[in-house]
Amino acid sequence: MTEHLRRDLTDGVLTLTLDRVDKKNALTEAMYAALSDGLEQAESDPAVRVVLLRAEGESFTAGNDLGDFAKVAMTGENPVQVTRFLRALAHASKPLVAAVRGRAVGVGTTLLLHCDLVLLAEDALLTTPFVGLALVPEAASSLLLPARIGHARAYAMFALGEAMGAAEAVACGLANKALPAEQLDAVARDTARRLASQPAGALAATKRLMRDAGVIAGVMETESAQFLNRLRSPEAREAFQAFAERRAPDFSKFG
Ligand code: COA
Repeated sequence: MTEHLRRDLTDGVLTLTLDRVDKKNALTEAMYAALSDGLEQAESDPAVRVVLLRAEGESFTAGNDLGDFAKVAMTGENPVQVTRFLRALAHASKPLVAAVRGRAVGVGTTLLLHCDLVLLAEDALLTTPFVGLALVPEAASSLLLPARIGHARAYAMFALGEAMGAAEAVACGLANKALPAEQLDAVARDTARRLASQPAGALAATKRLMRDAGVIAGVMETESAQFLNRLRSPEAREAFQAFAERRAPDFSKFG
């Protein structure tokens, strides 16, 4: 249990709200556990017809908690709940809708590749700065992002941390709409409710036809092995230390 993730089930829509505003909704192991509980509840509870992911505050999420990453780097402990969450995303059979304001960093962007409808506020900014943190892409984004936006653009996002704004995300098919921020929640709620009133069997079959969960889970496994190795690398330790010390990392000493 964590107070940083709220769960509400109304009218067939299970809303999962990130609520760790003071840390830009950076995701801790406890939050991944609660998100996984939510996605697993959605699979087993027929009352849940749609899952809506949203966040409090001006940022969707600053991605994985870098303190947690640093802990993995130091202790070698596996981030069990992250893996559980990614697996639940890969195998989600009910529609996932996301409502995103402000920054969506790392997994904040890559989880959108698993959502069936993505609504952005006009101020949304999507980034996947894995290489700058001495990491590799995750959440099957090494497959899904180039497939959506092309290799060159995806590579620039991964390797150079290039950001994508809301209008561009809509133009290249990463998102459905860019809306004024004050309309985002109402439109997302309404969209999720409309989906919830559609025939659940047809929705599930359509989702199965549109994405191959087995392939996606396989790519996640391959990525995870490399991600864990990278997390424990001296380069990554330098990146996390630099973030904690609010300075730019210096990778020049690593070959
Ligand atoms: N993990 C842990 N804490 C984080 C965090 C993260 N990923 N992102 C932000 N925070 C914390 C900051 O340390 C700060 O805490 P403090 O107030 O106790 O010092 C607080 O959240 C606010 O962040 P700050 O950096 O001051 O906000 P900002 O508006 O200037 O910048 C971001 C926002 C998201 C651009 C910036 O915080 C950032 O780059 N975060 C790291 C993103 C990242 O690399 N994520 C991992 C991707 S794999």
